[in-house]
Amino acid sequence: MNIIYFSGNGNTKHCAEVLSLATGNGKTESIENENAIQLIKDSQEFALAYPVHFSNIPFIVKEFIQKNCSIFSGKKVFLIATMGAFSGDGSGCGARLLKKYGAKILGGLHLQMPDTVADVKLLKKSPEKNRMILKTAEEKINRTAKLIQSKKYPHEGLHFYNQVAGLFGQRLWFLQAVKNYRHAFKINAEKCSGCSLCQKHCPTQSIKIEDGKAKLAGSNCTICYRCVNSCPRQAITIIGKKVFEQCLFKNY
Ligand SMILES: Cc1cc2nc3c(=O)[nH]c(=O)nc-3n(C[C@H](O)[C@H](O)[C@H](O)COP(=O)(O)O)c2cc1C
Repeated sequence: MNIIYFSGNGNTKHCAEVLSLATGNGKTESIENENAIQLIKDSQEFALAYPVHFSNIPFIVKEFIQKNCSIFSGKKVFLIATMGAFSGDGSGCGARLLKKYGAKILGGLHLQMPDTVADVKLLKKSPEKNRMILKTAEEKINRTAKLIQSKKYPHEGLHFYNQVAGLFGQRLWFLQAVKNYRHAFKINAEKCSGCSLCQKHCPTQSIKIEDGKAKLAGSNCTICYRCVNSCPRQAITIIGKKVFEQCLFKNY
């Protein structure tokens, strides 16, 4: 199965690659790459994978779908949402948007993965626990691959009760906060060396280097946490005030 994905910190990319391999060597392509559009055009059916952000679809994925809405018409899409703990209807958020543009939804899959919000202590787990979470996710992906091969798609996150859980469990309470977080990039000027790694990694070109220090540029930050997690000096925070643990998939 071909899989289009967005991944802030590598979790979703890994899940996409494991599923693609398990379903028989489909292609995987990030929406950050121009080739993703061609892959969608070439695929009658494919999966779309993304991390859940505040029980919702990430801004960058929503904007990608809206900008390229015409290419989804008539496509059969399987939604995959990765999450640290809970999303309610993580896959459903993407499904509802795609249906609006004429896609047919094949099913949905929710995968718990290590949490990536490096400056909030709440969901941090030990390395052993994170490895267990990863193993459990990989086993679930392999079971799902078998179902997909026999055209029996799971429907996680797609039911009405999932929508109610996502809405009342989180989305409603975070509505304004999430908009504010798009502008909440903070730099510790003493720590920042102006190395520009954050600028290079940012998927939305929302960081510039000014006077040798990283700064937020524009209002397009998708709050993916890639900059926070990859800063070599732990100089960046968004929601919290201190980096507790940097969480990139390649470090698990
Ligand atoms: C800004 C932000 C918000 C998040 N919100 C949620 C959430 O509402 N529920 C949840 O279970 N996980 C949440 N997470 C955790 C991620 O969905 C999870 O760690 C995901 O696997 C990260 O994937 P990635 O490495 O591909 O970015 C959030 C992560 C970030 C960065």
